[in-house]
Amino acid sequence: MDLLQIEGGHKLSGSVQISGAKNAALPLLALSILSSLPIKISNVPNVADIRTFATLLSNLGATTKFENKTMYLDSTKINSTCANYDIVRKMRASILVLGPLLARFGQCEVSLPGGCAIGQRPIDLHLKALEQMGATIEIKQGYVVAKAQNGLKGATIVFDKITVTGSENIIMAAALAHGTTTLINVAKEPEVVQLCEVLANSGVHIEGIGGDELIIKGSSMKLLPIENIEVIPDRIEAGTYLCAGAITNSQITLTSIIPEHLTAITRKLVKMGFEIEEKKREITLKPAKQIQPFDVETTEYPGFPTDMQAQFMALATQANGTSVIDERLFENRFMHVSELVRMGAKIKLKGHSATVFGRSKLTAAEVMATDLRASSALVLAALVAKGKSRIHRIYHLDRGYEDLEGKLAKLGAKIERLRSES
Ligand code: EPZ
Repeated sequence: MDLLQIEGGHKLSGSVQISGAKNAALPLLALSILSSLPIKISNVPNVADIRTFATLLSNLGATTKFENKTMYLDSTKINSTCANYDIVRKMRASILVLGPLLARFGQCEVSLPGGCAIGQRPIDLHLKALEQMGATIEIKQGYVVAKAQNGLKGATIVFDKITVTGSENIIMAAALAHGTTTLINVAKEPEVVQLCEVLANSGVHIEGIGGDELIIKGSSMKLLPIENIEVIPDRIEAGTYLCAGAITNSQITLTSIIPEHLTAITRKLVKMGFEIEEKKREITLKPAKQIQPFDVETTEYPGFPTDMQAQFMALATQANGTSVIDERLFENRFMHVSELVRMGAKIKLKGHSATVFGRSKLTAAEVMATDLRASSALVLAALVAKGKSRIHRIYHLDRGYEDLEGKLAKLGAKIERLRSES
């Protein structure tokens, strides 16, 4: 198993190009199921989750080719409607095939994803919405068995909670349904907006893109002529590199980004004393005279993202004072705390709140990655810890960060990928 070795204490400098967003690319890959034509998706990050999703589609009968960050998909050939446990257990986002498969074929079986490191993560809202659209749903031997023989029907659906993949699943289902679907309290994340824009460009009538309420006119099961797509930049990868610049108090520039998608993150950094310079597709972070502590609460977009909580916790260890971080979306997303403490961080956990007492002199340690974003927090801490840290189980990082060590090394970090003996 690979591990990362990082020697801390080096400033960063220069620029880094941000990849396409994993969480935007995944629903777009699922969307191919609704396409009447082979499709080409560019700016797809070469990360494990994308490769896993492509395998899922090819297990269903699609043909896939991934080269030079471009995914070529022909899902017109799909001849199976079963997403099996072996693949769904590897990646929860596999649930994104549920809405499209059911809408196109009138039936499907998708393994239930189960819990994961960051919390229980139910899919009840996905299922309830599909039932409201006329599907019958049963759970059999760990599978969601969904049927809507004559197709899904438009409905008015109020999401009790904002759910990103839940919204995406139902948006795709509604695009092929009979009649009009109204979605209330829908997610507004840029990744959801891109999915809606692609559908709109393919002739689907959608009102309210980017807002809390969407009205979608379905095609009555007619497949859609989906246009070529370019995936939006990854705002969480970008936020993680901003934190790398911030924790080492360096000047770095990010290119190929959309600054407006990063507002909640850059505002926080400015409050902490960093200077942010924005251009059309670029951001430069400049060092702070003194890093100030902060309070933050994770919430849905356009609020502060839960996917940046762990990275900001690493950053809080270097602030001059006490920061409070409230995690509101996932009940168990503090797995990085005990590993940060092993590196010398002073963090007190109470319920969904973490109090971080800065500034701590971090020291290198052997640490264990537990989920994707928790792992990136350990990388950030290692950049300032005295000595050589080793981060194990980095397959978590490989799920969502493209060439992390290459990009950090280009910025001047002393980072190496090693093979562990065990
Ligand atoms: C998406 O997960 C992202 N994944 C996550 O990215 C991200 O952390 C999360 O949204 C929140 O922003 C992808 O886009 C592939 P949710 P998702 O449904 O859709 C509760 C990363 O590191 N809920 O918006 O699974 C749920 O338990 C990750 O890239 C229900 O109760 O998250 C949570 O508390 C991991 N019932 C809240 O809603 C449901 O049916 C938000 O979850 C669905 C969700």
